[in-house]
Amino acid sequence: MQGSKRTCGDGRDGKMSDGQAKSRAAIAEPALTIAIAKGRMQDEARRLLTRAGLELDEAANGSRRLAVEDRCGRYRFVFIKPADVPVYVEHGIADCGIVGRDVLIEAEADVLQPLDLGIGRCRIVVAASRPEDVVRNLGMLRVATKYPRIAATHFGRRGIPVEIIELAGSVELAPVLGLSDCIVDLVETGRTLAENGLQVVEVIAESTGRLVVNRASYQLKAEAVSALIAALGRAMEPKG
Ligand code: PRP
Repeated sequence: MQGSKRTCGDGRDGKMSDGQAKSRAAIAEPALTIAIAKGRMQDEARRLLTRAGLELDEAANGSRRLAVEDRCGRYRFVFIKPADVPVYVEHGIADCGIVGRDVLIEAEADVLQPLDLGIGRCRIVVAASRPEDVVRNLGMLRVATKYPRIAATHFGRRGIPVEIIELAGSVELAPVLGLSDCIVDLVETGRTLAENGLQVVEVIAESTGRLVVNRASYQLKAEAVSALIAALGRAMEPKG
């Protein structure tokens, strides 16, 4: 559509012939590789990137390709499991990443966090069918979770002995079926807890999506990283 044609900010319209694409690939790697957490935050992250002027190739929308470039070839996006984002960024395979604070706390990753993007807002909570059973528990508390480190730290600080039962997903089932006394998990709308008869006992932390940056990339690709931070900062919804 003529009216909606976007440019790359440098006069190019983002469209290339195969020959142009091949020769560009030969002379210029994308300036930054950005790892995006797949799943609950992915759509919001994509919308934010689009508002920031980083438009993914239309062909990548809805496709199963795990690595795509923006229309101008300045950025490469890789879509990976949330827990893998800090791993790729810490090792410098990705220069930057977009991932939830919950994942970063659990990973204790050595990455820079220059921007709270305000997307994917949720809470990490302790939840149970009967909160009083958790509060009054005097013995070993069985805690099912995808966040073993966060759970162990939380109950350790309170001096409560726990058995951590690590699960990969559908954590809310554990207390319902008697595998655990409570869970430590994410709550966004609260629907999953409510539909499984669970209640929040305690909020451990708030979580939102963060821009993370590899320490070396922050220095060595300072110009590109600063431009990305500025563009995302401008694109964020105003707080209020
Ligand atoms: C997350 C989280 C809860 C659910 C909370 O699970 O672990 O189960 O979302 O969302 P709600 O409060 O809006 O209901 P996810 O969708 O990532 O799936 P999983 O349980 O398989 O990990």
